Amino acid sequence: MTEKYKGLSAAEFFYKNREIAGFSNPTRALYQTVRELVENALDATETHGILPTIKVMIKPLDGKVMVKVEDNGIGIPPEEIPNVFGRVFYGSKYQLRQTRGVFGLGVKMAVLYAQITTGKPIRVVSSMQNSEFEYEYEVQIDIQHNTPVILSLKVRKKRKGHGTLVELITEGNWFLARRKIESYLRRTAMIAPYATILFEGPNGSLEIKRASRKLPPPPQVGKYHPKGVDIELLKIMIRNSSKKTTLVEFLMENFDGVGKITATKFCEWAGFSPDTKLGKLTMEDLEVLARKMKEYNKWRRPKPITLSPVSAELLEKGIRHVLNPEFATAITRPPSSYGGNPFIVEVALAYGGEIPPSNTPILYRFANRIPLLYDEGADVVRKVVDSIDWSIYKVKFPAPIAILTHVCSTKIPFKGVGKEAVADVPEIEKELTTAIREAGRRLRLYLSKVEKMYAIKRRKVTIEKYIGEVARALAYIDDSSEKVIMAKLRELLKKDIERRGVAYAEEEQ
Ligand SMILES: Nc1ncnc2c1ncn2[C@@H]1O[C@H](COP(=O)(O)OP(=O)(O)OP(=O)(O)O)[C@@H](O)[C@H]1O
Ligand SMILES: [Mg+2]
Repeated sequence: MTEKYKGLSAAEFFYKNREIAGFSNPTRALYQTVRELVENALDATETHGILPTIKVMIKPLDGKVMVKVEDNGIGIPPEEIPNVFGRVFYGSKYQLRQTRGVFGLGVKMAVLYAQITTGKPIRVVSSMQNSEFEYEYEVQIDIQHNTPVILSLKVRKKRKGHGTLVELITEGNWFLARRKIESYLRRTAMIAPYATILFEGPNGSLEIKRASRKLPPPPQVGKYHPKGVDIELLKIMIRNSSKKTTLVEFLMENFDGVGKITATKFCEWAGFSPDTKLGKLTMEDLEVLARKMKEYNKWRRPKPITLSPVSAELLEKGIRHVLNPEFATAITRPPSSYGGNPFIVEVALAYGGEIPPSNTPILYRFANRIPLLYDEGADVVRKVVDSIDWSIYKVKFPAPIAILTHVCSTKIPFKGVGKEAVADVPEIEKELTTAIREAGRRLRLYLSKVEKMYAIKRRKVTIEKYIGEVARALAYIDDSSEKVIMAKLRELLKKDIERRGVAYAEEEQ
């Protein structure tokens, strides 16, 4: 017997293994479809400095579900529409810049799922910022060849402003997916308070208006950090440079934070002459160069211009707005890096108020502003939070405590293409631990203040209870009027309480 051999197209691979991208059943698939479309809509707006207004519509149609998402983003060049919606691994986000999308896969999974469950194509209407026209396409995927199939194309004068509308008819279970979809939209609003999200569903509509018009500065496209290279990446970069370029020039042009002095020092340290021409490098040289670039520890830290953290101020605002706690604090850590990829960790902690008590902190996880609702147990955040002894911070479970974490990076180490859990990369774990502990310390300060204030108040109430009786007894001995003595005692008590309050405030500082 001889084996049968054949290749598999990328579309066919994901058609056969759709579970790994989150499309495992009609409930999860509907959630994932909404998520992929909303993420693309947000990338098309906020990344380009546009305040997002996103409309999401879900309508059950006997056994099937229609999903429609409309944005006011930059639009898509008409000639690119077939490929971006009909070719797996095609997109505009393969750059060193923080975006929600990374793989060039998301919307194609939604198209594939719709195609195999209802046989219907995706309908896209898009108009670019400077165009007078809008283009309407119906696209499906030729799964075997991983190529788009255009079913129809209409061009007309633009009716509205710029942006994109995407519509799918897919299999889905609205009844079971409803809770997840609504909490996904709410959490999106929590991390993107500058977005307006209008949702029209079978059970009514939900309007989340922007709480702020302040957009964080959009992330810029950056260069690789020298610590992040491997032989393959070096080969590609060298192929794109002139053979006559010197090693120092090559390092300066292609890598983040490398100036002439740094590049020269590195070459000397690594045993290469700084003016070696690229054309002279052998395969062995490349291997040594890649290894030494990783080992060298005097490179500058990666620059965070490619990242767009939310800011402690907005995070605290968001968590207060949604959870209505008694105490809230937020921290944005300085930029750090793993394997040459810059990242920033942000944490907000909220306590008391309307937060329901639970036996472990309630988590709100975000990565590049994507709310992560599944696979919490596999996420590094859960690991870090569970490893902390919360009694140090005066938290006794069950306690009303919630923690929001946001990791942003040009490369989030997701555990799967469904983007639901972040892997436990040591550098990220360390930053998360530092930030959560700092928030814990602030909570402890607050709780001990509440405790002290409570003790002072208790003292006041207890003493007040006896003032009348003591005044009566003193008036009997002293002959003064009971009223005068009572007023004096009250004055004394007031001073005592004030003194204790001031002494406590000073102790605090
Ligand atoms: N609403 C939209 N507005 C503008 N461009 C869009 C929109 N939706 C999709 N695109 C374009 O289509 C490309 C492919 O989208 P897709 O969701 O498949 O991949 P991605 O967002 O790049 O990465 P990921 O797989 O992580 O979602 C995007 O990179 C973007 O260029
Ligand atoms: Mg996407």
